[in-house]
Amino acid sequence: METTAKFIIDGKTYEFPIVTGTEGERAIDISNFRRLTGLVTLDPGYANTGSCKSSITYLNGEKGMLWYRGIPVDQLAEHSTFVETSYLLINGRLPTRPQLNRFSVMLNDNSLVHEDMRAFFTNFPRGAHPMGILSSMINALREFYPELPERSEDEEINLRFARILSKVRTMAAMSYRISRGHKVCYPRHDLSYCANFLNMMFDSPVNPYVIDEELVQALNVFWILHADHEQNCSTAAVRLVGSARVNLYAAISAGICALWGPLHGGANQAVVEMLQNIHDSGGDPAPFIARAKDRNDPFRLMGFGHRIYRTYDPRAVILQKMCSKVLRKVRRKDPLLDIAEKLREIATKDSYFIDHSLYPNVDFYSGIILRAIGIPLNMFTVMFAIGRLPGWISQWKESMDDPDWKLHRPHQVYTGPKEQAYISIDER
Ligand code: ACO
Repeated sequence: METTAKFIIDGKTYEFPIVTGTEGERAIDISNFRRLTGLVTLDPGYANTGSCKSSITYLNGEKGMLWYRGIPVDQLAEHSTFVETSYLLINGRLPTRPQLNRFSVMLNDNSLVHEDMRAFFTNFPRGAHPMGILSSMINALREFYPELPERSEDEEINLRFARILSKVRTMAAMSYRISRGHKVCYPRHDLSYCANFLNMMFDSPVNPYVIDEELVQALNVFWILHADHEQNCSTAAVRLVGSARVNLYAAISAGICALWGPLHGGANQAVVEMLQNIHDSGGDPAPFIARAKDRNDPFRLMGFGHRIYRTYDPRAVILQKMCSKVLRKVRRKDPLLDIAEKLREIATKDSYFIDHSLYPNVDFYSGIILRAIGIPLNMFTVMFAIGRLPGWISQWKESMDDPDWKLHRPHQVYTGPKEQAYISIDER
């Protein structure tokens, strides 16, 4: 197999090394391309561009495979917890029991949010989107928890990771409570990460929340499946902003903003809104499918398609099973799930979707699970963001330690006007 690639430009041949990943995926290393040829490569949307070498997550879009640190995600969904999976992603290996205990204690110790931060939450306008609130509050965290010179770099970094993982979860529940005019519920040291979140969201002095282990497990699976997805849009944003050597809070805040978009993490909310629209217009998905196929109509079937997966998204397969389990548990007949099933059945048999390799993605079922757990629609993307935190943190950490690290600064091909003289305003 070739180990170099040859480019012939204006009759001159240039050779570039081909690098091979653990699973045999090959890439042409063009890091010296511009220096040697004077040209840049053009790749809108970076669909053909590898931005880094990474040992965190492997995904194969053709085969529908997803591994974290080499472990298939379905095994983690079956046997692990979100906290253990976070440790795995950040530290590169599964923790021993004492390591996991220490990590859990650290998360617990850092779960409270500075009381002065509450003023920020209460002063956002009613109806402010929780993703906007969250991205601002993450930036604010840095000011409330500055670095202390007496701590070693390792201590400081681990503390920052624990703070972000633990406090963001508390802040998410806090923003929900405040938005409803309810008293904030504090985290409890005796509850697991996921159970604590559900309790902070739903416990009330007049109606104590009863923790259901099956729902806790569903949340664990939901967050495990969202924990990382290699160089997706929000992770690329974290790496890009982080490449300017900005602090971790600011880099994660950028990731949250990117995730907010309906083509990325915002899709789980958009799926439920679309299913609700289908329901409200009589329950027949056919006209919506016809619109999605019409090139003159910008409408897309939310929860379908993926930049990388050309087959079923492995996370969607796990969530589909989890979805039926959760609905059985909460004894809820959800008309939107029936519509989702009808839609999936028609779309997956339709030649347009087959020819374009468009299959249900992770967002297709996640919205229904969150709805069944009782999470309000405008919090769906926040739920995704909490799940993606260990991925953003580990990708940021890897990029900071990368010997090939560079400030991210792409080029362009300029297509604007040729040089022209400035014309004064009276002569235009
Ligand atoms: N419905 C209808 N047609 C679609 C859809 C869809 N959901 N997705 C892609 N297509 C079509 C496009 O119209 C285009 O058709 P054409 O080649 O005939 O013009 C073709 O498939 C390729 O589309 P692109 O936008 O070029 O594909 P890309 O890989 O950039 O898009 C994306 C991926 C953005 C996820 C897209 O499939 C989409 O918009 N899906 C709906 C939103 C969604 O569910 N997002 C969540 C993604 S998962 C995640 O971020 C966690």
